[in-house]
Amino acid sequence: EGYRRRDFIDIAAVSAAGIGGAAVLLPLISQMSPSKDVLAESSTEIDVSAIEIGQAIKAVFRKQPLFVRRLTAAEVAEANGVAVDSLRDPESLADRTKEGHGDMLITMGVCTHLGCVPLGAAEGEVRGEFGGYFCPCHGSHYDTAGRIRKGPAPTNLEVPEYEFTSDTVVRVG
Ligand code: FES
Repeated sequence: EGYRRRDFIDIAAVSAAGIGGAAVLLPLISQMSPSKDVLAESSTEIDVSAIEIGQAIKAVFRKQPLFVRRLTAAEVAEANGVAVDSLRDPESLADRTKEGHGDMLITMGVCTHLGCVPLGAAEGEVRGEFGGYFCPCHGSHYDTAGRIRKGPAPTNLEVPEYEFTSDTVVRVG
């Protein structure tokens, strides 16, 4: 009878460990897999020192095109010369850039209409009637601050979360 009771206790102990182990493991797994993906895609560092005045580059952020553009003084003046209230999506250039870096326009390269990639970031591409970007899919024109000025797109090109980690390096995301 003594043995029987002992077997029962051992089995009970194993079961309890099994259940406890599973309960601990599940939350760990469910927390780990998403955060791993998020970490891999969370931010992108871009050295902007090589971008010349008036030039733009295309980068990739979270698998989507990102435009980084160093505006000329004339392009800055043009953006600042527009009455913000008159815009479809009212934002000033200052709203869309960082203090001290008002000539560095960083936006997603994704048209806010149906998601095409606008032209204007690569050398020789048309920049539309407002000198910024032009989406050839249905004719949306963005200005030098990446704001929608004409065509079907409802909002300005999205400015992602970013910060300058030095004078020349931007961390997006
Ligand atoms: Fe750009 Fe339609 S997707 S205008």
